[in-house]
Amino acid sequence: MYIESIELQNYRNYSELHMEFSQGTNILCGDNAQGKTNILESVYVCCTTKSHRSSKDRELIRFGEDESHIKLQVKKDGVPYRIDMHLKKNKPKGVAVNGIPIRRASELFGIVNVVFFSPEDLNIIKNGPAERRRFIDLELCQLNKLYVHSLVQYNRVVTQRNKLLKELSFHPEYEPTLDVWDAQMVQYGREVMEYRREFIEELNGIIGSIHRQLSGEKEELRIDYEPNSAPEEFERELMQGRAQDIRQKTSLTGPHRDDISFLINGIDIRKFGSQGQQRTTALSLKLAEIEIVKKLVRDYPILLLDDVLSELDSSRQNQLLAGIGHIQTVITCTGLDEFVNHRFPIDKVFRVTAGTVSSEN
Ligand SMILES: Nc1ncnc2c1ncn2[C@@H]1O[C@H](COP(=O)(O)OP(=O)(O)O)[C@@H](O)[C@H]1O
Ligand SMILES: [Mg+2]
Repeated sequence: MYIESIELQNYRNYSELHMEFSQGTNILCGDNAQGKTNILESVYVCCTTKSHRSSKDRELIRFGEDESHIKLQVKKDGVPYRIDMHLKKNKPKGVAVNGIPIRRASELFGIVNVVFFSPEDLNIIKNGPAERRRFIDLELCQLNKLYVHSLVQYNRVVTQRNKLLKELSFHPEYEPTLDVWDAQMVQYGREVMEYRREFIEELNGIIGSIHRQLSGEKEELRIDYEPNSAPEEFERELMQGRAQDIRQKTSLTGPHRDDISFLINGIDIRKFGSQGQQRTTALSLKLAEIEIVKKLVRDYPILLLDDVLSELDSSRQNQLLAGIGHIQTVITCTGLDEFVNHRFPIDKVFRVTAGTVSSEN
């Protein structure tokens, strides 16, 4: 799968933009704050409906405008798809595929897969559990529509339950209605846990050999799923925690508090890893993410690399570049120095300056 072209209207700092991409390596080069990340973001938004920066839709619309358009022309297995996204200030976005409006965002998943790699991703191991859950959710939602459904329902139930927990301080007599939410929370929560467990197992089947290679055969990496409450214990623990939930006015038990751990030679590197180990592991995780898409979708995803190369030392840069030679990549950078010695064939170079883009070849 690959992106042929993108058109933007009133997106971030672009009033109008049209770009044609190569199927190989595309470089976006320019000084800071010119709009390089905005282009990668628009591609990601158009493929997944969400920004990797988790901004609200209205923040994506150019200052002073009321709406924004993204048009993406992609090809998958030789079949062209046009994705049209219409972002509005105070209304939900509209999305159409090949001119036909879709009703749910999840219908967009499965058309194109994108993997976004930014410098923040290099901190996923040492950051908090919320970042690691976000990684699982963003990736699993692209790969499994059933997961999207379970997760959306689960989050909806938790929100409603939390609302009720807050109301209970004024209306303790509502407490029995918690039963209704608890039953749904258990049902959807177990589904969420089951899909996450499967996903982590798939990842484990792939990441071990990637990491072994990256560490010069020295390190065995394993990812462990750490559910906040085991699926079979969830119902009981939710009941047991109810009094505390009521006191703290929030739901303290369930997969919205899950985590994953990364073990190198059996040691939890969230706490005990060196910075180098944590970064290599983050790189292994991204490379595994690419391979898992290939395995499950039978095609490589599109890779968006935002200022990552300059964050890596040269041996890790080489490992990354070696792992992605065969897929469409859009890479941002401030200078082309990172590509000297022709370590990497470059197909297209764009210069980005204050919301305008010119092709250099
Ligand atoms: N909604 C918006 N409307 C107009 N400009 C925006 C909007 N959001 C961000 N910008 C501008 O985009 C620029 C940053 O773009 P970005 O893609 O992050 O730059 P970089 O080239 O460093 O990756 C900043 O100048 C910022 O003011
Ligand atoms: Mg940037």
